[in-house]
Amino acid sequence: MSCADCHQPNQAFQDGIALNKGLNVLHRNTSSLINIGHRPWYGWGGEHDSLWSQSIRPMLAATEMHTDISTLKATLEQDAYFQCAFRQTTQQTLQDLSEEAFLITLGKLLASYQETIRTGKSPFDRYRDQLLKQDASTPALSISAQKGLKLFVGEGRCVFCHSGPNFTNGEFGDIGVPFFTNNDQSVDKGRYQGIQSLRKDPYNLLGKYNDDPSKNNALRTQHLQTLHRNWGEFKVPSLRNVAQTAPYMHNGSIETLADVIDFYSELNEERLHADGEKILRPLHWSQEEKTNMADFLTSLSGKVKSATENKILFRQCFLD
Ligand code: HEC
Ligand code: HEC
Repeated sequence: MSCADCHQPNQAFQDGIALNKGLNVLHRNTSSLINIGHRPWYGWGGEHDSLWSQSIRPMLAATEMHTDISTLKATLEQDAYFQCAFRQTTQQTLQDLSEEAFLITLGKLLASYQETIRTGKSPFDRYRDQLLKQDASTPALSISAQKGLKLFVGEGRCVFCHSGPNFTNGEFGDIGVPFFTNNDQSVDKGRYQGIQSLRKDPYNLLGKYNDDPSKNNALRTQHLQTLHRNWGEFKVPSLRNVAQTAPYMHNGSIETLADVIDFYSELNEERLHADGEKILRPLHWSQEEKTNMADFLTSLSGKVKSATENKILFRQCFLD
């Protein structure tokens, strides 16, 4: 099993399945890895505070790849190409590293690759550039998508949570998606459990493997508090290339983008967390407004690029 079995490069680095199986059935939808660098938290509940520690988890998790450090290291020590590429990248030899130091390095290598997974300009970005330059040529967005954008930043209040270059504030919210899991009706406590896991994680940024000697990047983790409102909150997902990442939500419970728009339009206010999202309210959009919103969301897709093609970097290792 590889990371790419679930994070498929030709599917915006996710899998298009509501709940995939690793060695066991997962209870969360596979996240897309596009533009994944530089987020404050990782995982639907923010179980990790760095891309490298999040990348270690699937290798060890019983539900995902379920290996252990010794087996992993012993297997890779048999692989001449990997050894050579590892040496060229890290200036270290596998054999010289302790099992733990090896695992951390592997996490950091996986993270540096994932940081190369980026999207190019979308029609929305081109439209924004046109506005900035007061460019009067044909708008990159259709009239319908422009109306959708107005709803997004206006009446819909979507931008309150889906803000910034990745259309996420990087934090957590409860928009009323059920938190019972499909598999066994246990409860996914979301951010509440996420904070507790993060605190216990020996590889969080407060630990000794954080490369930043000032530890400034650990301040967020240091000041985290578990609040009652975190119960049932999930990560605000990025909306970049969202038209390519169905099905939606932490549990993959909403099949299409049109269904997500219906969900927001007919939101169940009673269901929303008691002290939760006061910003959200049912919008009761007309069919036309729903189409506008769908056209806007679809305009957020750009070409997905990554360094996958760079096998040539280690050509010397193939020749040896
Ligand atoms: C069996 C399927 C599966 C495999 C294999 C897998 N992942 Fe994932 N990945 C997921 C799921 C499901 C999530 C969401 C998990 C959660 O939030 O608890 C996820 C989340 C992530 C995230 C967090 C994304 C975010 O937006 O916070 C990263 C990063 C990631 N995976 C990287 C990897 C890497 C690197 C590998 C290989 C070492 C890997 N994954 C292997 C299914 C998989
Ligand atoms: C209060 C914060 C908040 C507001 C406001 C908000 N969202 Fe969300 N959005 C979220 C959260 C949190 C999720 C994930 C919920 C889950 O999985 O349980 C989400 C999920 C989504 C998804 C699914 C993405 C995916 O990859 O699964 C789409 C699409 C979306 N929102 C669009 C919108 C639109 C359109 C609006 C405005 C009408 C909006 N959101 C307003 C917080 C918010």
